[in-house]
Amino acid sequence: MRTSVRVVPLEQARVDLLVVASGKLHGKLPDSLLALDATTGSALRRAIETGDFTGDRDQSVLVYPARGSTRVLLLGLGDHAQITRAALRTAAAVGTRRAIGLGARAVAFHVTKETHTGVHADALGQVAVEGAGQGAWRFLELKAVRDGKPAIEHFELIVPREQRADVERGREIGHAVAVGQRLARNLQMLPGNVCTPTYLGEIARDLGRAYGFRVTLFDRARLEKEHMGALLSVARGTQEDPRLIILEYRGAGRAAPVCLIGKGVTFDSGGISIKPAERMDEMKYDMSGGAAVLGTFEVLGQLKPAVNVVGMVPSTENLPSGTATKPGDVVRSHLGKTIEVVNTDAEGRLILVDALSYARRFKPACAIDAATLTGAVVVGLGNHAVGLMGNDDQLIGEVRQAGDRAGERCWPLPLWDEYRDQLKSDVADVKNSGGRAGGSITAGWFLREFVDDMPWAHLDIAGTAYIDAERPGLAKGPTGLGVRLFTEFLLGRARA
Ligand code: BES
Ligand code: MN
Ligand code: ZN
Repeated sequence: MRTSVRVVPLEQARVDLLVVASGKLHGKLPDSLLALDATTGSALRRAIETGDFTGDRDQSVLVYPARGSTRVLLLGLGDHAQITRAALRTAAAVGTRRAIGLGARAVAFHVTKETHTGVHADALGQVAVEGAGQGAWRFLELKAVRDGKPAIEHFELIVPREQRADVERGREIGHAVAVGQRLARNLQMLPGNVCTPTYLGEIARDLGRAYGFRVTLFDRARLEKEHMGALLSVARGTQEDPRLIILEYRGAGRAAPVCLIGKGVTFDSGGISIKPAERMDEMKYDMSGGAAVLGTFEVLGQLKPAVNVVGMVPSTENLPSGTATKPGDVVRSHLGKTIEVVNTDAEGRLILVDALSYARRFKPACAIDAATLTGAVVVGLGNHAVGLMGNDDQLIGEVRQAGDRAGERCWPLPLWDEYRDQLKSDVADVKNSGGRAGGSITAGWFLREFVDDMPWAHLDIAGTAYIDAERPGLAKGPTGLGVRLFTEFLLGRARA
């Protein structure tokens, strides 16, 4: 999807779908829509004067003008005071999702002059294009029989001349984010028999070739050499070759890098502690954290911000077999600490800790991991917030702000000392599960046992990486969550 910014009278847009977003109206057609309304035989005015369209959030009216664009979609943004970045992102997404349904190839998006938001023009450009990409996303790669609906070819923002330059700056960021998020969602969507650890490694290699990142892939033999016993203990049950994927982006010379780590379990059956059959298919999404890291590297490649970033994706399947790790087995991590694997379904933390301790060699400024780590975070926060933990309040605050800007909101959970006791093992240094109580927090504590003094934050994205019902502007399935948050975080650091 091409994206651009254009200064043009609305009635001359000539696109397949012109989306006109408006905040609350008071029964009167805004002056800025007079000329467009004239091309519709006053359909816009009547929609407003009848009270059918009031500008309330999620309201829409579709009309067919006699000339100019084929269709005009009036879209409500709600109370002017509540028109945030998130609301504008969603509005653009609703627009492109509607466009897909209508078979429109060229889409334009405009926010009326009379709509008052606190959102600056460059942020508008960014979030509208992010939203456009979000709404336009479809995954057809594995369908032999398709519905024949075309993809959206062009999305343009129609803005007043004086905003053009600012909106254009934001559009560039939004476009990069949209591309990165599309990669993440596509990877998430791919089933376990296609998206294997080897496949993820190849994607990293492709990114490296396209953008010039250094990419290092550890296979099973190399992982053994590096003594990554925790990661390898999960990979014991599968024939698929595991990977530790490492990508290095340099945009800031010799500055200490930000380390991003994403859980890359390409299928989580639970292992010997096998999961129930119901909805086990969703465990193809257990590599969503890894997908977010790879998607973020696509954004880095496009934008080349002034920051150094190391991405790590420990990746394996978690399957039961005659060689699989058994409950009660004790394994030795890369750090040297021993782990009693009381539950083979608590595998994400095992693969993450070897990556976390390996991260030390990059002397990172901080490390942030994203992982579909616990069912408990879904119980606690549902599908609307990321569980946020860490060892550094300042970093936690910075991540939280990035999440707010990104519309990927995080909510803090406490890593108090008291929870740590639940991980005490009789036979090893720690055990890999603290039981049901405070399950997300004890998982966070387990990770913390392998982080020494670097500032570190942990995102439990099990409730937010994919959704089982559609939302305005967002299809059900993978959300690509993490790409926007990581991007906001890194751009924030690059500007600092
Ligand atoms: N991948 C799962 C967590 C998960 C659950 C993600 C639901 C998305 C939706 C993780 O590996 C897991 O199985 N966690 C266990 C940990 C327990 C055994 C301590 C869990 O949450 O039940
Ligand atoms: Mn599991
Ligand atoms: Zn898992």
